Amino acid sequence: MEKEFEYSLLPGAVLNWYDSHKRDLPWRVDREPYHVWLSEIMLQQTRVEAVKGYYSRFLNKLPTIEALANADDALLHKLWEGLGYYSRVRNLKKAAEKIMNVHCGIFPGEYTEVLALPGIGPYTAGAICSICFDQPTPAVDGNVLRLMTRLLDDHSNIDETTTKKKIAQILRDIYPARAGDFTQGLMELGATVCGPNTAPDCSACPCNHFCLGYRNGTASSLPVRSSKKQRRMEKKTVLIFSCEGKYALCKRPDQGLLASMWQFPELDGWLDLDAVIEQVEKNGIKIAEIIKQVERKHVFTHIEWHMRGVYMEVRTCAPGYTWMDAEQIRQEAALPTAYRLFFDELN
Ligand code: ADE
Repeated sequence: MEKEFEYSLLPGAVLNWYDSHKRDLPWRVDREPYHVWLSEIMLQQTRVEAVKGYYSRFLNKLPTIEALANADDALLHKLWEGLGYYSRVRNLKKAAEKIMNVHCGIFPGEYTEVLALPGIGPYTAGAICSICFDQPTPAVDGNVLRLMTRLLDDHSNIDETTTKKKIAQILRDIYPARAGDFTQGLMELGATVCGPNTAPDCSACPCNHFCLGYRNGTASSLPVRSSKKQRRMEKKTVLIFSCEGKYALCKRPDQGLLASMWQFPELDGWLDLDAVIEQVEKNGIKIAEIIKQVERKHVFTHIEWHMRGVYMEVRTCAPGYTWMDAEQIRQEAALPTAYRLFFDELN
């Protein structure tokens, strides 16, 4: 006979394990909602190790929700530079403005109010309300879905909303008083012992004596997911013009991918050198010397950019661009990773 999952064992096992195994992370030193909110937004799609430095820099510059609400966009983009998914930081600011205007500057303590803030979905609202206020609000991310479908030997597709809702309901019913630690313990177990991209380390798992995936030998083949969509491939020729120690940059459109950030000028497609020279000179720019060419790739969620960078010394700082020296680019301009790959090649 198939064994039922023993739900009552899960909270205690996770909390005991979390108490002795949790990582020391900067956003775990207090339960201040601003700190937890910022960390949860940064941790979406980004690894813990990569987030640590960004998190500290951000709070150094913008220590309060009020400072965030009043921050200018150039500073916000600079603080987020390299993290990707820049709409996250624009929504942070919108939410901070709402907190200042609607909630008198105090982060709301009700799940539905938190969920109504820009950029906050059920996962983030659940994480904040459980971690900061010990409310029984599950935060079901990829780590928790992997852990739970293995524990339950559940073969539902985790890319479907119904699966996320089902797991959230199961957890809601068993939340212990230490709700914040339970949320973080589930995430931590799902991120480490029952981690992605490798077989689960079942011998180190505090749940192995009641895990149905372990018992039935299915844990390694779970979770079930939809097959990945192919990414669209785009080819570009990126033009790195230098003149008198400065480089030409331009602003991206204020809508769409990497909205309002800086970039090097570019042409669609891969152009050979003759075609690049022809296009550049057609725009009235006189090339003094072609310095080098490099090829780089940058992967977004739905698109891959395959880029050919052509470095050119030009005779004048042509109008129509913003010319900045390397230090200014480093200090002031938010240059997304796709273009920073070419900046890093300058010497
Ligand atoms: N991933 C998402 N939220 C996290 C948290 N609070 N701690 C560690 N990893 C996380």
